[in-house]
Amino acid sequence: MDNAASTQINDDVLDSMLPYLKEQYGNPSSIHRYGRLARKAIEKARKQIASLINADPSEILITSGGTESNNTAIKGITKQNPGQIITSVIEHDAVLEPCKELSKNGFDIDYLPVNQFGMVNPLDLKDCISKKTSLVSIMFGNNEVGTIQPISEISKICHEHEVPFHTDAVQAIGKIPIDVKELGIDLLSISSHKLYGPKGIGALFIKNGIVIDPVILGGGQEHGLRSGTENVANIVGFGKACEIAKNNLLENMIHMKKLRDSLVKKVINKIPEVTLNGHPETRLPNNAHFTFLGVNGEDLIIKLDENGIAASTGSACSVNTQKASHVLQAMDFSHEQITGSLRLTVGIFNDQTEIEQTVNVLKKVVKELRLVSPFKEKYSFVSKN
Ligand SMILES: Cc1ncc(COP(=O)(O)O)c(C=O)c1O
Repeated sequence: MDNAASTQINDDVLDSMLPYLKEQYGNPSSIHRYGRLARKAIEKARKQIASLINADPSEILITSGGTESNNTAIKGITKQNPGQIITSVIEHDAVLEPCKELSKNGFDIDYLPVNQFGMVNPLDLKDCISKKTSLVSIMFGNNEVGTIQPISEISKICHEHEVPFHTDAVQAIGKIPIDVKELGIDLLSISSHKLYGPKGIGALFIKNGIVIDPVILGGGQEHGLRSGTENVANIVGFGKACEIAKNNLLENMIHMKKLRDSLVKKVINKIPEVTLNGHPETRLPNNAHFTFLGVNGEDLIIKLDENGIAASTGSACSVNTQKASHVLQAMDFSHEQITGSLRLTVGIFNDQTEIEQTVNVLKKVVKELRLVSPFKEKYSFVSKN
């Protein structure tokens, strides 16, 4: 139930990678046949990645994952064109941290607010964008509460002002259809391990005509945009994962939505004093994010784990941070609401039995935790429970 943190590698993906970890170990920059075989495999994967988002293969820069893609987009474009960056308060740290660094170097960073559902208002962007804006970066689907942002409207405003638009689509790719042409996206970040591919590999879509400076310098691989010998096996696996995601997109979307909707319905019906957070409809099909008042989310995760269920309070990608979720704070949640939050994210390999099991365990452990809650006097639910 923590598929937003990472996903199980697909068997076909693993099979596609193995030859490149064993006999076909050539360096793709070598002229001999081993090198040429590796190069061919990379270019095939690039096509598969591009096809998932309706891009041209020449528009795909392969990176080490979502974090590097976001850093490359933000730092790469602002090296070309320094100025103001507009982003949002609910971005992943892989966007917020490079922005923070740029602000130390004199860039103006403006953070758009969100409403109670975690959604950006395009009118706020309209008020903020100007001639000095060098980049707008707004995520596609939020990693904590799953809210999908109004991407078409945002990209339209950017283009009216001739400002490039980047979106961190790490949580959305492979879960909902994304066509970069239709949506008017200029830069888009993807991560392989969120779509049943290997970890440590991803891509940045860079629309033809958008110029960015490299962040990693060296031997000039990836057309000089990202130096370093390519991770051939991971790239091949990532390409295969994209191909599988594309071929099964609708089927997977329906499967995950059905499981997620069933989970939400059962949790709300069976457990008192619970709310679903994020937008009620405009949300990623696999995401359910709840607040159980009177419960500490971290205690809940430990109890769920003891019962064989993996869950999260929010982003798994920020290590060693006990700080309250900036996303929930931005949505105006109280301290108690933030403390009682839990994210459950289903994946394509989950089934209805696991949903039933999760709900039963959740019901039991929420009840146990509420009985020892320091807030138990404050709420009426304990007697109801
Ligand atoms: C929205 C978002 N962006 C970026 C990342 C980082 O991706 P990666 O783990 O590939 O570096 C994550 C990881 O959870 C994410 O959820």
